[in-house]
Amino acid sequence: MEKKTFYITTPIYYPSGQPHIGHSYCTVASDAIARYKRLQGYDVMFLTGTDEHGQKIENNAKKEGVTPKEYVDKVVEGFRNLWKLLDISNDRFIRTTDDYHEKAVQKIFRALYEKGEIYKGKYEGWYCTPCEAFWTETQLKDGKCPDCGREVKWAEEEAYFFRLSNYADRLLKLYEDQPDFIQPESRKNEMIQFIKSGLNDLCVSRTSFSWGIPVDFDPKHVVYVWLDALTNYITAMGYGSDDDSDYRKYWPADVHFVGKEIVRFHTIIWPAILMAMDLPLPKQVYGHGWLLFGDGSKMSKSKGNVVDPVVLCDRYGVDAIRYFLLREIPFGADGNFTNEALISRINSDLANDLGNLVSRTTAMVGKYFGGVIPAEQEKAPVDDELEREVVSLREKCDKAIDSYQFSNALAEIWKVVARTNKYIDETAPWVLGKDESQKARLASVMYHLCETLRVISILITPFVPNTAPKIQEQLGAGAAVLGYENAATWGLLPADAVITKGETLFPRIDVDQEIEELNQLIPSTVPAQEEKKDEGAQVPEGIAQITIDDFMKVELVVAKVLSCEHIKRAKKLLKFTLDDGAGERTVVSGIAKWYQPEDLIGHSIVLVKNLKPVVLCGVESQGMILSADCGEDTVRVLLMDGIPAGSRIH
Ligand code: MSP
Repeated sequence: MEKKTFYITTPIYYPSGQPHIGHSYCTVASDAIARYKRLQGYDVMFLTGTDEHGQKIENNAKKEGVTPKEYVDKVVEGFRNLWKLLDISNDRFIRTTDDYHEKAVQKIFRALYEKGEIYKGKYEGWYCTPCEAFWTETQLKDGKCPDCGREVKWAEEEAYFFRLSNYADRLLKLYEDQPDFIQPESRKNEMIQFIKSGLNDLCVSRTSFSWGIPVDFDPKHVVYVWLDALTNYITAMGYGSDDDSDYRKYWPADVHFVGKEIVRFHTIIWPAILMAMDLPLPKQVYGHGWLLFGDGSKMSKSKGNVVDPVVLCDRYGVDAIRYFLLREIPFGADGNFTNEALISRINSDLANDLGNLVSRTTAMVGKYFGGVIPAEQEKAPVDDELEREVVSLREKCDKAIDSYQFSNALAEIWKVVARTNKYIDETAPWVLGKDESQKARLASVMYHLCETLRVISILITPFVPNTAPKIQEQLGAGAAVLGYENAATWGLLPADAVITKGETLFPRIDVDQEIEELNQLIPSTVPAQEEKKDEGAQVPEGIAQITIDDFMKVELVVAKVLSCEHIKRAKKLLKFTLDDGAGERTVVSGIAKWYQPEDLIGHSIVLVKNLKPVVLCGVESQGMILSADCGEDTVRVLLMDGIPAGSRIH
């Protein structure tokens, strides 16, 4: 029987500069879905590529004194290398400068012209050069481009137009008949509003620059870059060429993943073009959110975070970066990228939760059973509970993946990881191991751990494709028990499989040291003037002297510890509620290594009250607790017991 097909695409990226982590986001997301669908047995076509024409590229090339083609060739290499580094499993990579694409676009343009869907007219309007878009007076925002906010200029040219205005009703009907066509829902409402405010015919040719695909029957015109770009989804499958078998096999696409700012092009212009060509429409367009950088801006340049994906992969490994991108932000929403959040995810989810589970399991099977997985023997109710969670996991992942919520799929998997770590605490194998009469029970516990890891390793494959095989190798699990079809059945791991203790999957990162190092890697974010000021300044040895006025700027007060608790996912941190004499405040302190929460409750400490608040692992810390570094890895909090809360220290 022929396999069911699944066709997924990323947008084709502008090679106008090297790719950054924002571009990686959509590509990694598409890759995870492509891999998941392959795991499920689909015949997957996963397409990505580059959108290489247009005025911006022509201008960039001019600035560098090279031809546009030389310019894009270099940048496209950077995209290809990054996708290789990130383990992107695309089946095809299209460049809009590929010969077959250019020919097919010319054919499509001519066919639409001959059908009367494209006609020749004159264009007048406000033109935004970076976006390559014309705008009407009413579409401008404060007189500027509504998409990018930059200056627009009045432009007039003879041009070809596509009869987009004829398609308003059909598009609205499409959204109604196919309620899932635009996802998430909120983006659909935006599109409906856009159409209802009136659709104009679309200018689909340009004469103001030449870096584009010439209209073959009127070559002083080049094809509008969006018409050129959108058709990539079918030309890459051979549409308009001698061999269109892949087009017939894979089209219509199951889903186009695109960033939220280009949903309009994909849900209005693209379906209208296809309607005009009498071709089937893609089944869905999913508009994902943006990765934002600290100050809430969409990334274009470093804003105080190391966001070069190559540097990040180098430091933490590809899977850690993939995991973070997929886990941290619900697909569809905007999300913040910070180095702190990245490191916290790596430490808590990957090193502590999954990494530890694997290393504890292999170490215990080594210690108690000489490295050979024992057969399940004496079972307890807690075993059944774990089994139930494990065998129902695949269905939960499938459900999340069906709606492209990979962060939910990962959350479900990590719930089982957490449950399994808890299972170790509950069954206490180290106690069972001391008692020979408990050997059968211990065998069951070990088997449950290994078998759970087998299932987890299958389901994490699409997300962290390097880590999964490492776990499987350590478990001694062969391909016969590692298919998707094996992920919802308990008991497939053979009892005599031989465990090997492998390398640590995700080494823990020392947060403070790492952040300091990362900050040094960041291209200077200090304003140029301030940098200058420091030039030639004498750097004192040790800590520089300060005046009494400097010291008095620090507000030190006595505060009483009202409560204290651990912060989940941050092993080093404790969260304090303090009475500072004027009220309550929360302070986070990195002293969990030396104190248990109960050690400090009721004591009085020294608080730096006017320290600027910072968010640490999701908790706002409003100050700092003073402690002394006593050497030899010992830290003691300064205690002020007996002194009233609020007393100023100076
Ligand atoms: N060439 C067009 C797409 C044509 S598709 C027929 C284009 N290229 S782009 O390079 O500017 O953007 C490509 C994709 O990258 C867009 O979907 C955009 O949203 C995405 N991203 C660029 N920066 C991003 C973030 N910071 N975060 C998430 N995605 C972002 O538009």
